[in-house]
Amino acid sequence: MLPINLKGKKAFIAGIGDDQGYGWAIAKALAEAGAEILIGTWTPVLKIFTQSWNAGKFDASRKLSNGEMMQYLKVYPLDAAFDKMEDVPEEIRSNKRYMDVSGYTVSEVAEQVAKDFGKIDILVHSLANGPEVKKPLLETSRQGYLAAISSSSYSFVSLVAHFGPHMNPDGTVLSLTYLASERVIPGYGGGMSSAKAALESDTRTLAFEAGRKWGLRINTISAGPLGSRAARAIGFIGSMIEYSKANAPLAKDLAAEEIGHTAAFLASPLASAITGVTLYVDNGMHAMGLAIDSPAFHPAAELQPV
Ligand SMILES: NC(=O)c1ccc[n+]([C@@H]2O[C@H](COP(=O)([O-])OP(=O)(O)OC[C@H]3O[C@@H](n4cnc5c(N)ncnc54)[C@H](O)[C@@H]3O)[C@@H](O)[C@H]2O)c1
Repeated sequence: MLPINLKGKKAFIAGIGDDQGYGWAIAKALAEAGAEILIGTWTPVLKIFTQSWNAGKFDASRKLSNGEMMQYLKVYPLDAAFDKMEDVPEEIRSNKRYMDVSGYTVSEVAEQVAKDFGKIDILVHSLANGPEVKKPLLETSRQGYLAAISSSSYSFVSLVAHFGPHMNPDGTVLSLTYLASERVIPGYGGGMSSAKAALESDTRTLAFEAGRKWGLRINTISAGPLGSRAARAIGFIGSMIEYSKANAPLAKDLAAEEIGHTAAFLASPLASAITGVTLYVDNGMHAMGLAIDSPAFHPAAELQPV
């Protein structure tokens, strides 16, 4: 048997705000494999996240297969759109969700994690934000486009740059991307498709640079659609899930757990030669060139495999 054993490893997962998203599923899979979990939660949702956790709202999702509850060592406030405190505009600093919190920029969080726990082994970027995601690219403002790139792509570069020196040499870094980087997904707008393309390209360049500099492996998982809080904000995630099930090679639901399991594999020594990769975990949807449920092909039976 080939085990995935991450005992003794510490993982920092950036982008957990509830128990519905990919960050949570990855944390859970890493915890199942024995890793210790540190969480970075977006500053404005930190309070609701910790309150919900303490009130037991996530208890059902925290249950591990051995009957224990997933724990975290510490949760950090994080706004990955900022690298250092000087970058944070006054209107954000004085916003009511930020003003009582400090140390939430990427450099500060990386320093604090190193101070608290020394070196870590696994870094996960599971966050994205595009304020104009509902607008077609043609109608996206410069500001909205750059905000999407800043929160969703540069945040990854910044996390790797600041955590890199505080990671053990066989460490691994992961992010989450989406097929809209390379194929047109109407409705995934606001520059989010561009942000995912940047994220995938940066995965390759960072794999080289951080591989040579710190011995890290850097990969990104291209995940299929999941009804997370972020995805629900786009507005048609239900149809995306249905479309995928109707047209993907594997006509089944995609479970967040399947992305978690892939993350655990990529973080493990079993993947010791895998770096710079965009790995599809999407029931094979990326491979399709035709929508077999299109009305143009009815009756669809003529398209079934021979
Ligand atoms: N849900 C999908 O269908 C899908 C498909 C492919 C890829 N992804 C990617 O998976 C990742 C996780 O998203 P999810 O869908 O699981 O939703 P999610 O809502 O669980 O996660 C997104 C997280 O990003 C956080 N966030 C936003 N801006 C931030 C900032 N500036 N600093 C720190 N945190 C910030 C949010 O608070 C939230 O917790 C994202 O990169 C997303 O693009 C999602």
